[in-house]
Amino acid sequence: MENTDNPLLQAAEILKKGGIVVFPTETVYGLGADVFNEKAVRKIFKAKGRPADNPLIVHIADLKDLKKVARAAPAVAKKLIAAFWPGPLTLILKKAPTIPDVVTAGLDTVAVRLPNHALARALIRAAGAPIAAPSANRSGGPSPTEVAHAKKDLQGKVDFFLSAERTRHGVESTVINVLVRPPLILRHGAITREEIEKVIGKVSVVTGGERQAARSPGMRHKHYAPQTPLALATAAESVHMLVARYHLKNKKVGVLGTREQYQQYKTADRVILLGSQKNPRACAGALFKALRDFDRFNDVDVIIAEPFAEAGMGAVIMDRLKRAAR
Ligand code: TXA
Ligand code: MG
Repeated sequence: MENTDNPLLQAAEILKKGGIVVFPTETVYGLGADVFNEKAVRKIFKAKGRPADNPLIVHIADLKDLKKVARAAPAVAKKLIAAFWPGPLTLILKKAPTIPDVVTAGLDTVAVRLPNHALARALIRAAGAPIAAPSANRSGGPSPTEVAHAKKDLQGKVDFFLSAERTRHGVESTVINVLVRPPLILRHGAITREEIEKVIGKVSVVTGGERQAARSPGMRHKHYAPQTPLALATAAESVHMLVARYHLKNKKVGVLGTREQYQQYKTADRVILLGSQKNPRACAGALFKALRDFDRFNDVDVIIAEPFAEAGMGAVIMDRLKRAAR
């Protein structure tokens, strides 16, 4: 298949030979390798500058492949699978012995999801093995929602870019540990806590303190941060005050906010609107691109972000903003 001009088959060939490939999913672009090829998986950590103690998500194309990567799923996992797969929900399960330690950072658990993206699933099938993949960004930066973002971060460091549209959700999958009671959300994402609780009842969410306890290794590390420093305001009104305060220090100020507050932001040097407060899901989908756009325009010294109500997708946005602000 050397001479194929079909990008999907080219990408699959590269994966089979131990290369690493950027590919689209419904959440964000991923950087994938054959999960069973330890050497290939190591290349992912190198290309991203990712700490080796932060495990990867294993992507399968079909439910029947779950047993190749994980031991038997508990009843609560089966309910979540029935409700949300294929889709942006990642389950923490007991790992199958065949999964190399490099994928799981030495844990006895594995993160698994079945993406709802035809090209992603076709790639996994054509590669003949599940794909281990983190988001396709430089470690610590915003996740890529367009292939151009992944190229900006990883050009020259990976073997292939499989292009598609801008990703549908624009925010990563929700990660939930179903091995503990009650199940524990380790990372907010495209499926909200409320949607999950409708299916399996009360769940808990990892808090700052527990993050330190490394229940989700990824929580220890810097995340989502643009190059431009970001400050999260405590209320829409305080955005205006923060802008004034930075102007007194002769700083150029960008505001990341919503349509409803736009009139308040006229004094800012650049305003990027995520959408309407009434549609936090769309705002979440626009967030990573907006953070990258501030860096691309490179004309403000600081970004002030308007806060969202911490429920539903608003909680997802606030999680990303708080971590971007560190
Ligand atoms: O939507 C997504 O999830 C995207 C697309 C590409 O699928 N992937 C993604 O991967 O966001 P990444 O590596 O950026 O985030 C994976 C998260 C990290 O917070 C990691 O620590 C956590 O999942 N994780 C992976 N394996 C784990 C495990 N065994 N136990 C606890 N957390 C785990
Ligand atoms: Mg990531």
